[in-house]
Amino acid sequence: MRIEIVSIEVEMYSSIEELSAKDQVLLEEARNALSKSYSPYSAFEVGAALILENGLILSNANFENASFPLALCAERTALAAANAHHPGMPVIAMAITAHNRRKKITKPIPPCGACRQVLSEIEDLQGQPIRLILQNSMEGEILVSHSCKALLPFSFDHSFLK
Ligand code: THU
Repeated sequence: MRIEIVSIEVEMYSSIEELSAKDQVLLEEARNALSKSYSPYSAFEVGAALILENGLILSNANFENASFPLALCAERTALAAANAHHPGMPVIAMAITAHNRRKKITKPIPPCGACRQVLSEIEDLQGQPIRLILQNSMEGEILVSHSCKALLPFSFDHSFLK
């Protein structure tokens, strides 16, 4: 017997102008955050910008280390900054963008599995979804997911531990 477990639906837009004004601002902030990337090893810059329920926007970028596995992803550095400054304030949306200094990227950048896991748990904690807006740094299609859990089907979560 076969069953279908994974099914992901996202909205697709062909340019930033098609997004709502708020999402446009968030994507621009994610693009701006690329300048904060410390990525001497991968040459892969990732910028993430999130908007909190109180309207504040925070952004951050990936931060690498000579000990490669210690690299911090942009998404999680931005989430940690939000928690440091506004603990408990729900995250409404996050825009993620990337620029590869070695090769042109043409596709939107999806968050890595570890970041999806963290984002999903934050959705559970705050009891509301985080919209994700994904694009490469400047052009090409934009994908919007209504939640992070939607990008991590069949996942491990806190319910198995309690
Ligand atoms: N990276 C992120 O910042 N977010 C992701 O979701 C995927 C990967 C960073 C980590 C590392 O600095 C570089 O991209 C290459 O993997």
